Amino acid sequence: MKNILPGVSWSALAALLVIGAAVGSKESQTPAAQAANKEIQTTKGNSQMDVKKESFGRLPDGTAIDIFTLTNTGGIEARLMTYGATLVSLKLPDRKGKVDDCVLGYDSLDGYVKNSPYFGSTVGRYGNRIAKGQFVLNRVTYHLAKNNGENHLHGGVKGFDKVVWSAEPMKASGGMGVKFTYFSKDGDEGYPGNLSCIVIYTLTNDNELKISYEATTDKATPVNLTNHSYFNFTGGRRDTLGHELMLHADRYTPVDKGLIPTGELAAVKGTPMDFTTPTAIGLRIAKVEGGYDHNYVLTSGGGALALAARVFEPESGRVMEISTTEPGIQFYSGNFLDGTIAGKSGRVYGKHFGFCLETQHFPDSPNKPKFPSTILKPGQKYRTQTVHKFSAK
Ligand code: GLA
Repeated sequence: MKNILPGVSWSALAALLVIGAAVGSKESQTPAAQAANKEIQTTKGNSQMDVKKESFGRLPDGTAIDIFTLTNTGGIEARLMTYGATLVSLKLPDRKGKVDDCVLGYDSLDGYVKNSPYFGSTVGRYGNRIAKGQFVLNRVTYHLAKNNGENHLHGGVKGFDKVVWSAEPMKASGGMGVKFTYFSKDGDEGYPGNLSCIVIYTLTNDNELKISYEATTDKATPVNLTNHSYFNFTGGRRDTLGHELMLHADRYTPVDKGLIPTGELAAVKGTPMDFTTPTAIGLRIAKVEGGYDHNYVLTSGGGALALAARVFEPESGRVMEISTTEPGIQFYSGNFLDGTIAGKSGRVYGKHFGFCLETQHFPDSPNKPKFPSTILKPGQKYRTQTVHKFSAK
């Protein structure tokens, strides 16, 4: 065949033809399909896989929200959106390879905006409660938003779960990730200091979902970031009372009626709080007033990455192991789910339909001098990591 464009190589000509074909096919699409395609962008994660970026709709004020899809070679898919740096879905194979979404949430943005008990979201500036919404730091009393009776919960009225994060897909060793960033201004919800935050989610080919948190500040401030995913390894077929849980913790922090720690570290041995050996969540839950909503004191003490929890769901065979650098983990058995929320596929989320394992520093630490400190000072870097490893047996 004769080269019809003198001076242009065969390979360049071939490339021109491919571009021409792509443009042609685009023009033959409907305007809606064209718009959808325009919104889908992919970024090379590694040689085999791409991070997919799509639109997940708009907030009532018109702000566009993006959703990113991470996939791995083990058949896992995680979707994350910029509203609340939220884990929207997590598809995991069971022991037969059947894939189900194993976190609670909604099919569209609307539900998250209107009524979400922190489904999958990043929680901050302070995960869990600060008593009476106040604390003293360097002799100044700070007053925080009170959004849980007289207490402050999960960062206040507009916590990090309700803000829009910037996001970029990124390469990661052995997988792919999304880096979320957010700048919380001095005075937000009553907290001192401008806080720059980074949350990186990575899905690896070792079937791990890693969450890394970083923050810096220009004034001393409490910081306690976590993720509030509600897991259900039956894939949402029934409640989670049959899941077997092991917590690597001999002690927990007992709470008063407002769920504020009393300051004591109590032994779990001989009580319904004991999960040092794998035990069904539902076995003794009736003996715990209100259900489980407690911070466990991890045996590791925090610092180095260490195993904190293991969950096994007998019917599907799914297993999750959580390792963390944090000294505590909040085990919340979905006690406030009451059937008023219809989530993904219209499924009604009744009591205990999902449970949370929020790696963290202890609740109300700013008012409990004996608890590990949560104060971040200028010049320091807040850095924590939590790894969820999935398998099936
Ligand atoms: C945390 C708290 C619970 C509850 C849930 C969200 O786990 O400890 O008391 O606020 O979040 O509903």
